[in-house]
Amino acid sequence: MAVKWGVIGAGGIADRRTIPEMVKVADNAELVAVMDLNPEAARRVAAKYGVSAAYTTEEELLRDPQVEAVYIATPQNVHHRQVLAAAERGKHIFCEKPMATSLSDAEEMIDACHKAGVLLGFDYMMRFNIHNLKIREYVQSGALGQPVMGRAELTCWFPPIPGAWRQKREIAYGGSLIDMGSHCLDLLEWILDSRITEVFAFHDRLVHPYDVEDTSTTVLRFENGAHGIVDNYFNVPDEAARNLLEVYGTQGSILAAGTVGQDPTGTFTTRLAPPGQSYSANQVRDADAGVKTETHEYEGVAMYGTMVRLFSEAIRSGGQPPVSAEVGYHNLQVLLAIYEAARSGKPVKIHYA
Ligand SMILES: NC(=O)c1ccc[n+]([C@@H]2O[C@H](COP(=O)([O-])OP(=O)(O)OC[C@H]3O[C@@H](n4cnc5c(N)ncnc54)[C@H](O)[C@@H]3O)[C@@H](O)[C@H]2O)c1
Repeated sequence: MAVKWGVIGAGGIADRRTIPEMVKVADNAELVAVMDLNPEAARRVAAKYGVSAAYTTEEELLRDPQVEAVYIATPQNVHHRQVLAAAERGKHIFCEKPMATSLSDAEEMIDACHKAGVLLGFDYMMRFNIHNLKIREYVQSGALGQPVMGRAELTCWFPPIPGAWRQKREIAYGGSLIDMGSHCLDLLEWILDSRITEVFAFHDRLVHPYDVEDTSTTVLRFENGAHGIVDNYFNVPDEAARNLLEVYGTQGSILAAGTVGQDPTGTFTTRLAPPGQSYSANQVRDADAGVKTETHEYEGVAMYGTMVRLFSEAIRSGGQPPVSAEVGYHNLQVLLAIYEAARSGKPVKIHYA
């Protein structure tokens, strides 16, 4: 039997991606209720998907006995409150990233869901871009040799807009890093299968006069020793953004374009050095001699819909969400360490128990 879903915060990413993909891709999920603070958004989205229950308070949606699970797609400053409320009502919770705006809130969210016996997971859906999956497989196969560096970039043009919550520190916590960098950090750790242990960052408002960073450049060190760079800008035109993902190792490299983003598209090129590569003292060599270069492109799979399908499967089978609460917590831990580094101008180490 399909899992009956309610949506809290139906206007933005929910309406643009998650609900349409839930309807199209997740045949084990059924949308039964939507809620948005904005009554017009609640009504419009409910009508669009033929749902009769449209609410303007989360209490009404959580009291609705047909709702088994909720997808929360509201600004991050209310995730904590809404997750606690949903857990108290015994609903499973698929929540948007970032998890929260403080680690103490995030811990409470995990505890509350654990005590209530409900699943909690987060929407790091870029793990389900087929190209990112293949890149991970490639790196994990050892084909690149020892990984020494990974870079992920996600960038867009985001001018000042009256009322935009992402531009307000008290709601969003930060700017381009927390909004877009959260995905980049998660992707690199997941592809390299290694946690970030140290961070350093520059944050600036180079172009836009809002109170969060529009320019974020982060340097990372991973547990396996590899270095990393994550760069996120709100001040580069969409048309100029490349959204690149790069991995370099002792045997080769991967360069991906368009795999960091909301579309399930992209392509990547692998470049492997010939075996027995030797040092060239005079630096004169044919850069392509013996190099194996391949371009990989796959048919995209709807990432948001896949997340809902896998989450619904986990609810029915007693399994785990596609991306766990612990991943959400860890990602927030790394984000907050980066903000501390940017504020202090000093590298910050992340300690693991
Ligand atoms: N995983 C992804 O790819 C992805 C993409 C975009 C946004 N997000 C995350 O999703 C969340 C929402 O972002 P968005 O772009 O959809 O924002 P948005 O502003 O476009 O939409 C949010 C909707 O929530 C409603 N809302 C605001 N506060 C509410 C509340 N307290 N209760 C109920 N409804 C409320 C708004 O009226 C609006 O319709 C953020 O945490 C963001 O980081 C994730």
